[in-house]
Amino acid sequence: MNSVPSQPPPPIRSGSNVAATFGVQSDPAGVVDPGAAISNDMVSAELASQSSAISNDIVRLDNVHKWFGDNHVLKGIDLSVRPGEIIAIIGQSGSGKSTALRCMDHLEQIDKGSVTVCGHTFGADIPKSDLKMLRQDVGIVFQSYNLFPHLTVERNITLALTSVKKMGKGQAKEIAQTVLAQVGLSEKSQMYPEQLSGGQQQRVAIARSLAMGPKLMLFDEVTSALDPQLTGEVLRVIEKLAREGMTMVLVTHEMAFAMKVAHRIVYMFQGKIHEQGGPDMLRHPQTPELKHFLDNGL
Ligand SMILES: Nc1ncnc2c1ncn2[C@@H]1O[C@H](COP(=O)(O)OP(=O)(O)O)[C@@H](O)[C@H]1O
Ligand SMILES: [Mg+2]
Repeated sequence: MNSVPSQPPPPIRSGSNVAATFGVQSDPAGVVDPGAAISNDMVSAELASQSSAISNDIVRLDNVHKWFGDNHVLKGIDLSVRPGEIIAIIGQSGSGKSTALRCMDHLEQIDKGSVTVCGHTFGADIPKSDLKMLRQDVGIVFQSYNLFPHLTVERNITLALTSVKKMGKGQAKEIAQTVLAQVGLSEKSQMYPEQLSGGQQQRVAIARSLAMGPKLMLFDEVTSALDPQLTGEVLRVIEKLAREGMTMVLVTHEMAFAMKVAHRIVYMFQGKIHEQGGPDMLRHPQTPELKHFLDNGL
């Protein structure tokens, strides 16, 4: 299987260092003025491209803080995700991974900072109409699948389409067939959740999210409750979505999978982003905390 996502985004730039971006070396002797090598047009073009990169971000967390009572769970998270980018969040239990993910969908209210997701910007509060649009743009899948046991697979998928999106039944069923094919479960549409394995139920949960046509998918340890074989079938579905260019943020304990699909890995430690980098970061951890985490597991 191809280990390289089909649409890797452009390399992440270091922000506002225009001289570094143009590869201009500073000259300690002062013989060459680095500024002189850069025309105003070049600077404007670069700044324009940087600001358009910023406005194109699918996710942008700026100095996000979250408390649960006295427990300061997120301590100033800055994170941006570009279209097509796949971010894996790793870290010890309790480090704030799920909370960070849930803040992106306003399932948790942030206490300080700001969040922009799919063009919707919010702080502690978000207008109801914006929240409705945000939820349509973002799919989120958890460890527990939360399918309705009394509804068929197909109805589990069409429910939000007909009730939230006010779509006709025929069109909703067509979409259900399309997304079930995407997760390899076309033949299960008339079954009930209890007739499916855990892995199949999780794939239905993913299909249900995909049916809404999200611009961003968030996955929170979606394979933690599954045995290895079922884990594999769910990861293959996520990997396929990755190859198709879906923007994704996934919290995972599957390090090999993270290295395979993620463009960037974010290691959280005690409510902060402690280290981040390309997949290779897991082979060459820079901080003792990440090294310890990788050596000792969870
Ligand atoms: N709804 C909640 N109410 C109170 N405390 C919470 C809640 N959710 C999470 N926490 C606390 O926030 C911290 C971070 O939790 P979480 O984001 O779930 O971490 P992780 O996903 O990395 O295991 C933990 O100390 C946890 O107990
Ligand atoms: Mg968690």
